[in-house]
Amino acid sequence: MAEQLAHQTNGRAQIILLGRNQTAADRIIASFPQTSTGTPSNEESKYSFIKVDATSMAQIREVTSKLSKELDKIKFIVVSPGSSRMEVETRRVKALIGQWHDLGLVKGFTIGRAYNQMVTYKDSAFEELAARYPKVSFNHVFPGMVTKPMITGFTGSLFILPFLGPFSVTPQQCAQVLWWRMWTHQISRYGEEFPHNRHVTPEVKKAVWEHAIKMTGGEPTSTTS
Ligand SMILES: NC(=O)c1ccc[n+]([C@@H]2O[C@H](COP(=O)([O-])OP(=O)(O)OC[C@H]3O[C@@H](n4cnc5c(N)ncnc54)[C@H](OP(=O)(O)O)[C@@H]3O)[C@@H](O)[C@H]2O)c1
Repeated sequence: MAEQLAHQTNGRAQIILLGRNQTAADRIIASFPQTSTGTPSNEESKYSFIKVDATSMAQIREVTSKLSKELDKIKFIVVSPGSSRMEVETRRVKALIGQWHDLGLVKGFTIGRAYNQMVTYKDSAFEELAARYPKVSFNHVFPGMVTKPMITGFTGSLFILPFLGPFSVTPQQCAQVLWWRMWTHQISRYGEEFPHNRHVTPEVKKAVWEHAIKMTGGEPTSTTS
């Protein structure tokens, strides 16, 4: 998602990666496009990494408090830490996931039950958050099967992957679709998004914008892409 945002904005973005892995973050940031010298400071590339473990509420409180003091506003928060390695996550999941009559699964913990509960737990949390903060837009996404290590990392996956092709998407395709959804301005009467009009190229947008400004008597300013 960060890579797509950096590329879709030609680097005119402030992106803060949060995670445990400094080396991976450095590699990802090094691949981002950079704005050229002379770009206004409010549009120039600003990329950084903050080390934080998402299972530590103390670290999360520390980093969110720091960011809310430093930043005027945050337009998008993308939250996707995760792991399917339940054997090493057991204690953590047990503390986090519960049935409605056994919160924390104190009485009846199994990995299968914890995994199933996780879905309902996340769905309920998002519905509650959306109800509590109506001015914030929440997108709780089921991306389908994305070819990340969760899918590609198990023994024998090399033999199975070719058959998963039609049923899976790459991380890049997934991120493209999700950003498209975020940016979309065109929806049908059923609330579904229309595909992008292929005639609307950057050149067409520029010409239409300048024509509209000319016709309405204002000063032409550049379009966003
Ligand atoms: N892939 C799919 O097909 C699929 C489908 C549906 C839903 N999902 C959900 O989407 C989410 C992401 O899945 P994914 O396939 O992208 O997983 P992934 O490839 O394993 O990526 C998870 C990322 O989270 C980071 N991470 C893990 N634990 C963390 C922690 N405690 N603190 C900070 N960062 C942490 C990992 O980085 P490090 O380990 O380097 O720290 C890694 O970059 C999960 O919640 C998963 O259940 C995935």
